[in-house]
Amino acid sequence: MSEKKESINNYIASNKQRFLNELMELLKIPSISADSNYNNETLRTAQEVEKRFIEAGAEHVEICPTAGHPIVYADKIIDTNLPTVLVYGHYDVQPPDPINLWTSPPFEPIIKKTEIHPEGAIFARGACDDKGQMFMHIKAFEVMMKTNSLTCNVKFMIEGEEEIGSKNLETYVKQNKEKLKADVILISDTGIIANQIPSITVGLRGLSYMEVEVTGPNRDLHSGLYGGAVGNPINILCEMITKLKDDKNSITIPGFYDKVEIISTEERAEMAKAPFNLDDYKKSIGLTDIDGEAGYTTNERNSIRPTLDVNGIWGGYTGEGAKTVLPSKAYAKISMRLVPHQDSEEISTLFTTYFKSIAPPSVTVKVTAHHGGTPYVTPTDFSGYVAAKNAMEETFGKTPIPVRSGGSIPIVALFEQELGLKSVLMGFGLDSDSIHSPNEHYGVFNYFKGIETIPLFFEHFSKLSNE
Ligand code: BES
Ligand code: MN
Ligand code: MN
Repeated sequence: MSEKKESINNYIASNKQRFLNELMELLKIPSISADSNYNNETLRTAQEVEKRFIEAGAEHVEICPTAGHPIVYADKIIDTNLPTVLVYGHYDVQPPDPINLWTSPPFEPIIKKTEIHPEGAIFARGACDDKGQMFMHIKAFEVMMKTNSLTCNVKFMIEGEEEIGSKNLETYVKQNKEKLKADVILISDTGIIANQIPSITVGLRGLSYMEVEVTGPNRDLHSGLYGGAVGNPINILCEMITKLKDDKNSITIPGFYDKVEIISTEERAEMAKAPFNLDDYKKSIGLTDIDGEAGYTTNERNSIRPTLDVNGIWGGYTGEGAKTVLPSKAYAKISMRLVPHQDSEEISTLFTTYFKSIAPPSVTVKVTAHHGGTPYVTPTDFSGYVAAKNAMEETFGKTPIPVRSGGSIPIVALFEQELGLKSVLMGFGLDSDSIHSPNEHYGVFNYFKGIETIPLFFEHFSKLSNE
């Protein structure tokens, strides 16, 4: 081991407990961006992040106000002739509900051992997505500062609105192009295949998120007096939803697949080499069988193929007991995950036109679009990817596998468009970490693997930029 690596590892080892404690402190603050009741806590989280940057030795640290939750910016410029890494992450979290399904309170972090995490995992909302992964970067930065091993410039941009669509970050990026000038963007907000099977995310899906409202009669009706003679908006909504897919689970919206990137047989064969066990997969989510678009494997269905899913549906009576009512309205939230080269706005329009066209004359339909996002793919032959690959190879002892993920980080495509920068998606979470679900957790192993790997990314990226 080089002297430098040894001093980095020593520093991490002697500060291990503090690194864990500081993350636990951060996880105690409920920075739920979607819920304005938590605006104070969200701001307090930004302030805590700011404080940690200052302690770690960042130079310019500021809380940048936006029309929504603030962005924390920090940097350390050691030499303007050297390359610059821009780190992006988010300090906001998803709402914790359904709260009764948590085995310990979501904002009282606690370390528990699990089958997959024998060294223990931190259970809390945001532990993996993304406070835990974002905080690895602050700690890795501290390590590099304290061991004199930072070899290039670094800028940090940590936002508080990723989980609600990053609208204000979009404005911030457009207005601060000079300030955000860099050579590459580094993000840890994705995952690896398994703790023994490192991987790097090379694709993110885009998103079109719709809300529909189906209206029948002008008021809720007695289902005995009117039932059978009046169209029921909930029944009709369900029928309309059913029409959005055919019996092969193919989406029926005209034009939906027109621009979908066709992946060659060779490329699909290459992707199929990533280790995957269908039985384990089913077992991990408590299923006896899977379901999806005909002609594609599970890993293809959740990465290179677009989807349409109902995320929520409501209307009528859902309280205790029974109420015989024929509701006036029914609602659903429907999202579509997009792949290259589908366009979010275009897909939203196609959806709206088709959804209205399949409504029977007994109801009226209103469709609104929520936030969207453009799909993103990274090449594996640019210096950022190679640096991440080399770094992970050193810390995992294995070459990471490039994989396309099914998730979305909509701002990544905008970074490329506005800043001309590619993003390296070097995440350390596991699919089983229950992000967005009750009992979200993040492995202690994964947290420290990240802190160890990030300084090596910087080292390799500097070296590659010098060549
Ligand atoms: N970190 C996730 C996205 C993710 C997780 C990508 C794991 C790949 C692997 C991010 O915070 C997220 O949840 N994104 C949302 C989109 C956003 C617009 C709400 C998503 O994918 O649903
Ligand atoms: Mn995230
Ligand atoms: Mn998320």
